[in-house]
Amino acid sequence: AKITLQPKNAKAISNMLTGIFFEDINYAADGGLYAELIQNRGFEYKPSDKSFSDKDWNSTFAWSLKGDQTVLKIDSVSPVHTNNLHYAVLDVKVPGAALTNNGFDGIAVKKGENYNFSIFSKQLQGNNGSFEVRLVSEKQGILGKLKIKSTSSWKQVNGIFNSAANATDARIEIVPLATGKFAFDMVSLFPQKTFKGRKNGLRADLATLIADIHPKFVRFPGGCLAHGDGIQNIYNWKNSIGALEARKPDRNLWGYHQTMGLGYFEYFQFCEDIGAAPVPVIAAAVPCQNSGTGGGGQQGGIPMAEMDQYIQDIVDLVEYANGDVNTTWGKKRAEAGHPKPFNLKYIGIGNEDQITEVFKERFTLIYKALQKKHPEITIIGTAGPFFEGTDYEEGWKIATDLKVPIIDEHYYQSPGWFINNQDFYDQYDRSKSKVYLGEYAASLPGGNKTNLETALAEALYLTSLERNGDVVCMASYAPLIAKDGHTQWNPDLIYFNNSEVKPTTGYFIQQLYGNNAGDQYLPSELKLSNNQDQVAKRIAISTVKNTKTNELFIKLVNLLPVSVNTSIDLSEVATIEKTALKTEISGNPSERLIMPATSKVNIEDPLKLPAYSFTVLKIKLS
Ligand code: AHR
Repeated sequence: AKITLQPKNAKAISNMLTGIFFEDINYAADGGLYAELIQNRGFEYKPSDKSFSDKDWNSTFAWSLKGDQTVLKIDSVSPVHTNNLHYAVLDVKVPGAALTNNGFDGIAVKKGENYNFSIFSKQLQGNNGSFEVRLVSEKQGILGKLKIKSTSSWKQVNGIFNSAANATDARIEIVPLATGKFAFDMVSLFPQKTFKGRKNGLRADLATLIADIHPKFVRFPGGCLAHGDGIQNIYNWKNSIGALEARKPDRNLWGYHQTMGLGYFEYFQFCEDIGAAPVPVIAAAVPCQNSGTGGGGQQGGIPMAEMDQYIQDIVDLVEYANGDVNTTWGKKRAEAGHPKPFNLKYIGIGNEDQITEVFKERFTLIYKALQKKHPEITIIGTAGPFFEGTDYEEGWKIATDLKVPIIDEHYYQSPGWFINNQDFYDQYDRSKSKVYLGEYAASLPGGNKTNLETALAEALYLTSLERNGDVVCMASYAPLIAKDGHTQWNPDLIYFNNSEVKPTTGYFIQQLYGNNAGDQYLPSELKLSNNQDQVAKRIAISTVKNTKTNELFIKLVNLLPVSVNTSIDLSEVATIEKTALKTEISGNPSERLIMPATSKVNIEDPLKLPAYSFTVLKIKLS
């Protein structure tokens, strides 16, 4: 094969093509990216959180009482905060029993590292008691201890554990040291080493892996989670900010519980920390498929009489993110520790909705009001999966009629689909809305598994997104992360447990696109010795230039079972050095995990594209 670059025909493309989609699915937030180690810290789990019956899923889930002569009760008579009604009461006849929490399938700690403990407590009966808090490993015994004095009214107390050993089987034990009644709430344990050391922060290993993609944007909090499965379950960003004990927990439509500990402030902070644009997605005032009733929600959309308040909440979000510290919501951001604006530029309205009259009426109201009040915000509409027909067409129709700047498309398909549809955007009408491919993934039929073949199909499709980067402005693989044993959706980009993170091959494809991105696309001529359609479709090339750093990135995908010898004619571009950095992922297509390998190559030398490979060349230009 021979490749000739044609820089004279270069065109401007989006400089934020690779981003991430974060949804609290698969325990992505609580028990996942959010670094809190105590499960059900506020005793707020409810049977209705679950989409299937689980007799243990209630205020005491993850908690137990070890020992006797003490009774554990859940009370709600005088809570720390009305949004956090339940708390534990231990009625101690003879001291010795322990209220224990084993986190999310055990607590993982590292020897010598500090863990911030915090608890709200009050003594309801008996005087001047105190209680001990222990960090205990099932196998290794006590790893740390704290002694805390009781008070007669709710008081938050903080302490630090320095773990005496590495463990993945630790738990917290709270042991009253006197007789009487002791109340406990908001029991929390955080590693001190969170991502960037943020308070109430994120798990460093997972957040670092995500940051290493160098995503240009972060979409949150969903997915379906954003619109919920009934109008009471629509994600309300206002419930996710402020003091942790005052946040309003909710049922997660994926069948568990959201503490809201990872809330809008934390999402914005994470975006800033990794240099990505925040892209919150707000429901278009309709829940999932705007007819869903899920866990007891109401049908249809938010009543029209409540739409003014609903729209005001979205307007308030802009003020929370960008407003001056003297504004009502800007002040709340400043109080949370961030007086400077978060520089919010995008808001998504709707997620994969059925485009019914209920939707259209509400979307139009929100769109027009937000556009009027905040013309500086780019609104992203929704089209959903194109193969599901009318909603996709109707989604596009409303976007075209209203001139919505960007529209969100989703599709999960087989590798073959991505290979056969790489011309999907070639004919898109450039005068219409731009596209945010908000959710996509290639998966194998049946098992929903991924391997090198699925990763290469994504890499190949991404060459076509770069080629169409004048109309496709953003793209994010979905879902992003999934916890072992708590996965509702496969495939995912990164799997993890309490102590390990396990990127897939597809992760490295995203990382290579995120780290080798440009703002200009350079067409190229690809001459193949065998030009049959099925051969040509399995080879793809995309060249982009970063005009700020003056770097050229050539991406080559070979999905053929044989290697391809090629050479690249770079005579039309002025390079600084003849040496390029080559990164390659190649191997057996059914292999699950293949890591990239880097080497230096001379750009004038012939280049061999191994069978089933993705190659990226990074070249410095003069
Ligand atoms: O990514 C998983 C789910 O797929 C999202 O929540 C939803 O938007 C889509 O159907």
